[in-house]
Amino acid sequence: MKFFAVLALCIVGAIASPLSADEAALVKSSWAQVKHNEVDILAAVFAAHPDIQAKFPQFAGKDLASIKDTAEFATHATRIVSFFSEVISLSGDQANLSAVYALVSKLGADHKARGITAAQFSEFRSSLITYISSHVSWGDNVAAAWNHALDNTYAVVLKALE
Ligand code: HEM
Repeated sequence: MKFFAVLALCIVGAIASPLSADEAALVKSSWAQVKHNEVDILAAVFAAHPDIQAKFPQFAGKDLASIKDTAEFATHATRIVSFFSEVISLSGDQANLSAVYALVSKLGADHKARGITAAQFSEFRSSLITYISSHVSWGDNVAAAWNHALDNTYAVVLKALE
């Protein structure tokens, strides 16, 4: 029992300031406008940061135009985008904090095992935001909500990468 109380405190501590209901609504509504653009999103990330593409054994060294329309590319793009969809769907409800923490910290640990660096996660973040901000109606409130969401997510990922 004591163990679970300590664990709960650690989890809440790791996600120090959960999203408000308003912020979660802004993230959800903007994500809903791009979440079916999986291939486009991953292609934008690879185009902006070829070092990220180089970490994927099946895509490394290949011309982006030649892989972008393949089923394999769509599969990977869908995995990555679905991860965000899952975390975003859980956001805005404190009862889901420990589930979000578990998902994101596993993501970090799995990527650490692949040799992915904190700098590459930051590159991914900036190209994701560039993509979203140019495909949805974007303003200071939406930007602040996304920053808050990604700050929380990345605090957990970066801890797992250490
Ligand atoms: C927040 C950002 C990211 C998310 C949400 C994400 C999500 C995922 C997911 C869901 C998978 C499949 C499940 C798994 O095997 O773990 C995966 C696999 C992978 N990710 Fe990421 N990822 C992110 C960032 C990155 C970055 C920055 C890199 C490289 C620099 C990367 C490289 C890989 C590789 C190499 C795989 C394995 C692909 C394979 O099956 O061969 N990821 N990622």
